[in-house]
Amino acid sequence: MAKLVIEGKHKLSGAVNIHGAKNSALPVLAATLLAKGTSEIHNCPMLSDVAASVRILRHLGCNVTRSGDCVTVDSLGLNRSDIPDTLMREMRSSIVFLGAIAARTGEAHMSFPGGCELGTRPIDLHLSALRQLGMEILEEGGRLECSVKGRLRGTTIALAFPSVGATENIILASVTAEGTTSILNAAREPEIVDLCNYLNKCGARISGAGESAITIEGVDSLYGCSHSVIPDRIETVTYMAAAAITGSTLTLKNVNTGHIATVLPVFREAGCTIASSGGELKISAPNRLNRIHTIRTMPYPGFPTDAQAPVMAMMSVADGTSVFIENIFESRYKHAGELIRLGAKIKIEGRVAIVEGVKRLYGSEVVSTDLRGGAALVIAGLAAEGITEVTQIHHIDRGYEKIEENLRGIGAVIKRVD
Ligand code: UD1
Repeated sequence: MAKLVIEGKHKLSGAVNIHGAKNSALPVLAATLLAKGTSEIHNCPMLSDVAASVRILRHLGCNVTRSGDCVTVDSLGLNRSDIPDTLMREMRSSIVFLGAIAARTGEAHMSFPGGCELGTRPIDLHLSALRQLGMEILEEGGRLECSVKGRLRGTTIALAFPSVGATENIILASVTAEGTTSILNAAREPEIVDLCNYLNKCGARISGAGESAITIEGVDSLYGCSHSVIPDRIETVTYMAAAAITGSTLTLKNVNTGHIATVLPVFREAGCTIASSGGELKISAPNRLNRIHTIRTMPYPGFPTDAQAPVMAMMSVADGTSVFIENIFESRYKHAGELIRLGAKIKIEGRVAIVEGVKRLYGSEVVSTDLRGGAALVIAGLAAEGITEVTQIHHIDRGYEKIEENLRGIGAVIKRVD
């Protein structure tokens, strides 16, 4: 089993290039199914989740090639409508293919994605919305058997919660539906906007993306186009946390600071200086961070749940006590137990985590519990005295391209051991 071995206490300096956003690339790749022709997706990160999406597209009959950061998908040969269980298990967000496969082929067959390391993660909002569009969905023995008689029909769908995945599935299913679909209480994440920008370039008629009400006027068909994925805002925050915890100055390139507007004040409150212009962000951190008061994770534009773990790692060595309230996922503090093994003082009470900053962390062997939790342990390891070994790093590889190479490039002492 591969692991990351980190020698802590080295200052970081220099620049990191931020990759394309995983959470944008996945729905955009699913959307390429709808475009009858060839789409070129640029700035596509090299991640295991992207590789899983490519395997799904190939399984469905698409011709997919990769050259550098560009993935080219020709969906003309699409001839299947199922996703194998192994791919559904490998990547829970495979569920975002459901709307696209059913819209293109009139049916979709896959296993239920089930729970994951963040909790039960139901898909009731996805299924209820797709049924409102006219899809017949049978849930039997852990499988989803979906069929569409004729075309899906546009309607008004009010989401009980602004689920990112459900919003994406509705958009993918309704873009070629008959009539107009309105999504009320839609997710407003930048990745939703990116998906709609791609689809509109392919001939879709979507307005309101990035707002709570999205309107989709169904069109007969879509054609391929060239699109560049937005920068990954969570990767950006992760490298900012790496700079903060090590008291370093770093430049991050290819960022969109507008997408992290509610995260920047948290770093400033912690004592960091941040300057940005023209897609670059420079962060300088003090030798000891201040505590931050309370961080509440919220749907966008609130503080992102995906940034909670990396920011918790940096607060574990701040001067004072910080409080986190996790409002999105029921079980998103598994990394806290591992941070405690490195010497952090963290108490969890339901959705609340109380982090009492300590003067120093000590290297130890820790287990990556999930994608962002794993990144938090790497960040903690950069500041810990001695050697930290992070195992189960397949979680980290789902969302961070070349994390150890990037960190070595800015002065960290880190290696991957197989
Ligand atoms: C996406 C992101 C993930 C991020 C999350 C919240 C991708 C590939 N993943 O996940 O990184 O952490 O948004 O910003 O883009 N829920 C239901 N029923 C549903 C759907 C969701 O109860 O049908 C609940 C979930 O259990 C969770 C909350 O809603 O508690 C948010 O989930 P959702 O916004 O759907 O997240 P994902 O799309 O799964």
